[in-house]
Amino acid sequence: MTDAELMKEAFAARKMSYCPYSGFAVGAALLAKDGRVYRGCNIENAAFTPTNCAERTAFFKAVSEGVRSFTKIAIAGGRADQTETDLCAPCGVCRQVMMEFTDPDTFEILLGKSETDFQIFKLRELLPLGFGPKNLE
Ligand code: THU
Repeated sequence: MTDAELMKEAFAARKMSYCPYSGFAVGAALLAKDGRVYRGCNIENAAFTPTNCAERTAFFKAVSEGVRSFTKIAIAGGRADQTETDLCAPCGVCRQVMMEFTDPDTFEILLGKSETDFQIFKLRELLPLGFGPKNLE
């Protein structure tokens, strides 16, 4: 799975976004170490706080199926009526979930404007001094 293919998965996942309140559609594609891809979209709620981000949807799908080792995640988010987007960086809660299940020095976060135009960050860059499982050892 190339980075471009993973980003294509994120844009496909974005089409499933349920975002009637914000109109902001996000898709994520999480690549597991075994090669499987877990798609996620944001899922909003009339009560607002139950809303789940695309990234966490992807992580929770994988973890709930027993998969806990990941290499990278591709993310695409922007106004639902637009096909190309600005970079959509993951929220703090999603970065914290990534910290739980990945090595922040190697796990990659691909932020896409389109299926072929994206930037790559390490989780450590987006969550410096993050608190994670190692702090509790
Ligand atoms: N959202 C995500 O799904 N991922 C992000 O990285 C940022 C925000 C969602 C949550 C909400 O449904 C909408 O985008 C607007 O905040």
